[in-house]
Amino acid sequence: MQKTPQEDPAMAKDWIACLTYKSVATASPGASDLQTLVSKARARNRSLGITGMLAFEKDCFFQTLEGPPAQLDLLWSAIRQDTRHNHIEVLSEHVVTSRLFSDWDLLMDERFLDAPMVASPTPPAVADHIARIVVLALDGDDTGLNALIASFADNGWTGDAVVTLLIEPAARALGDAWMADQCSALELTIALSMLQLAGHALRYAPASETIRKSRYSILLATAPGESHMLGTSMLADQFTDAGWQVEMAFPESEQALLNQLGAQQPDAMDIGLSDALPRRHALIKLRSAIEHSRLAAIGRPTILSVGGRLFSEAAASAASVGADYARKGIAGSAIPIAELVRQNRKRQA
Ligand SMILES: Cc1cc2nc3c(=O)[nH]c(=O)nc-3n(C[C@H](O)[C@H](O)[C@H](O)COP(=O)(O)O)c2cc1C
Repeated sequence: MQKTPQEDPAMAKDWIACLTYKSVATASPGASDLQTLVSKARARNRSLGITGMLAFEKDCFFQTLEGPPAQLDLLWSAIRQDTRHNHIEVLSEHVVTSRLFSDWDLLMDERFLDAPMVASPTPPAVADHIARIVVLALDGDDTGLNALIASFADNGWTGDAVVTLLIEPAARALGDAWMADQCSALELTIALSMLQLAGHALRYAPASETIRKSRYSILLATAPGESHMLGTSMLADQFTDAGWQVEMAFPESEQALLNQLGAQQPDAMDIGLSDALPRRHALIKLRSAIEHSRLAAIGRPTILSVGGRLFSEAAASAASVGADYARKGIAGSAIPIAELVRQNRKRQA
């Protein structure tokens, strides 16, 4: 069994303390206040050897900090006394052997930093289609929605295009509607399931002979406790069409996920967060699920991928959970994941 730094002080220098907390801003900070806070914090963190991430949402801060225990203690006592926030709640505090944020001196939610990111403009016709899809889904008009989605396929749109250009943006628009209190959580979940059902009509790139022969297998799971399963369900169609052996899991807990992973030992596992909502708070739990999945699959290492709105909007979050791959969206991940599996199998051979 691995020793802890307490049992073996010689190891202590290599250990990294890791702290995650949530707090409430005392006064709503503007973008420039946040930028000032982050740039000062970055400079100090760099000098202390501290890495981490900071997010700000709905008047709450979420921060993960990691670094040598003594330096982290020092910084933590300054942060705790900072009057710009209060109601500080420590969510997790532990010691680990390696950093998760090694490349970042402090990541801040991209929306608050530097120049605003310019989204590529959506052509008006496509924006119209998305708006119609949202209305039909919120109205519960499954017949209309199925007919509309099927009509794109009839007009030559590929499955990948319908998913990427219409279904995913519609899911995000539905998430935005919920965040703006324009629909209830139940209406959002129902609308997403309707999108999911309509999506079954789509077809994707046909099976690759190599993959079929190699019998690549994947476990497609929603993140433990995640109620939105649009992405996971649509991935099932894509991976099946691409020749993979597909199993699915909708675990309520991390343990249930690990049990299924241990029983099936697939070549790859994808864990999906909501495609409608950013779920930033789920990052910590997801990271734990990934860490434990690596241990559960120790005999036959599994390629671990993650996806969801969080990853499509802030690609850097991928590194924070320790996954091998982060999907930018629902479509198009069968090929890069197959390549990772191929390399993995070669290493084990
Ligand atoms: C939510 C929040 C997060 C912060 N994160 C950091 C940080 O990561 N690094 C840092 O040096 N200061 C951070 N600060 C600022 C510190 O609280 C403090 O102002 C700064 O370290 C200067 O400390 P001093 O006044 O003891 O010199 C943060 C402040 C807030 C409100």
